[in-house]
Amino acid sequence: MKYPITRNEKYDFLGQSYASVYPNLHKYPATMLPQIGIELLKEFNIQEGVLLDPYCGSGSSFASALECGIHQMFGFDINPLAVLISSVKFTKLSINQIITAKLRLREAVFEFVKDENNLHQLPLPTLTNAEFWFSNVVLNNLNILKHFIYQIEYKELRNFFLVPFSETVRECSYTRNNEFKLFKMKAEDILQFNPDVFGVFFKKLNDVIRTYENVYLPKLNENTSITVNHAAFKGTNETFDVVLTSPPYGDSRTTVAYGQFSTLSNEWTGITYARKIDSLLMGGTKTKQLYQKGLLADYILNIAKEDPKRALEVAAFYEDLEKSISEVAQSMRKGGKAIYVVGNRTVKGIQLPTDQFIAEKFEENNLHHVVTYERALTNKSMPSKNSPTNKTGKTVNTMLFEYIVVCEK
Ligand SMILES: C[S@@+](CC[C@H](N)C(=O)[O-])C[C@H]1O[C@@H](n2cnc3c(N)ncnc32)[C@H](O)[C@@H]1O
Repeated sequence: MKYPITRNEKYDFLGQSYASVYPNLHKYPATMLPQIGIELLKEFNIQEGVLLDPYCGSGSSFASALECGIHQMFGFDINPLAVLISSVKFTKLSINQIITAKLRLREAVFEFVKDENNLHQLPLPTLTNAEFWFSNVVLNNLNILKHFIYQIEYKELRNFFLVPFSETVRECSYTRNNEFKLFKMKAEDILQFNPDVFGVFFKKLNDVIRTYENVYLPKLNENTSITVNHAAFKGTNETFDVVLTSPPYGDSRTTVAYGQFSTLSNEWTGITYARKIDSLLMGGTKTKQLYQKGLLADYILNIAKEDPKRALEVAAFYEDLEKSISEVAQSMRKGGKAIYVVGNRTVKGIQLPTDQFIAEKFEENNLHHVVTYERALTNKSMPSKNSPTNKTGKTVNTMLFEYIVVCEK
């Protein structure tokens, strides 16, 4: 190991879930525990400055930073659903305004459905395979909700209502709800599936209001400015004092399918390229060259010996990560810290040292490696991580740990 790894149990947070301290407003895959970010910012005594999260997802790094006194932040994500969730969480709205809009919406929906002639007059949105994923009743009722939500003029308030709407889309579709990828329920389950769209929506809306009011709103003060951009991060010059992020572990197609998880919600909210999002995320664009630089070269060669196509897919991810790190490094101020929480995934039985790669790339971009902590992901007893074969990176166990890589400019 070029960059030493220190096992640090403080960051395990065993038995703690995201929901235990920071209930999310909407489900999202592979969220980072805000407790980890808080502890890290405390350990490195970071209490002010401008924060960047180039892969902000549902915004847990912002929750961490707010807790530590940081109020100016910028986030980036290519997935529109991630941008929706994190911007709603950290945009200040008055609860009275939300409640008034809720009552108006409820009244408008119930007035509308009273007249049967109304039911089929709204044009349905363009959805791929709509009837495969929704019953006709569900489609029509979601469409009614959508119609009235989009009549809310003030964009920030409308977005607030789109969060429970998106959860309702998912819950009332034929997707198996506890999976991130889009899988359809079994036929026998569909026969008994008759969700009450309006009931689900208004219950979720009340939950979102309660969580927002109790957990997020109290942390937003007049100095808070959190800007969430629907884009990949592009470098700027020396703007940020701290970078706190949990990047994807690999390309979305073979690791966590953020795009697929979000497809139905994104389509319902008018994203025409919803089905393409996974290919737009890191590692989603094909490359023709095996990544052959630095400490990752041998690992990729070993994968190529077993499966050349997989090796190219892996190479595409690291090419993108390298480029992103160089843009992030350029955008940091001197003395700033970059904190990346990442997993070392396994491909073809070979565990890829993404933590080492991150430290290496930051060092190539004028930062120095401060520390890498290893944290356990489960409380199971940990089998040996030593290689059972002599191949670089071969290991018996993989995603039981995550790595926290800290570098300084
Ligand atoms: C591990 S998740 C972040 C989770 C986040 N920390 C949270 O708690 O919700 C990684 C995120 O990176 C986003 N992503 C992947 N490639 C990206 C890119 N090139 N630019 C911006 N965001 C990207 C994905 O959409 C996903 O939301």
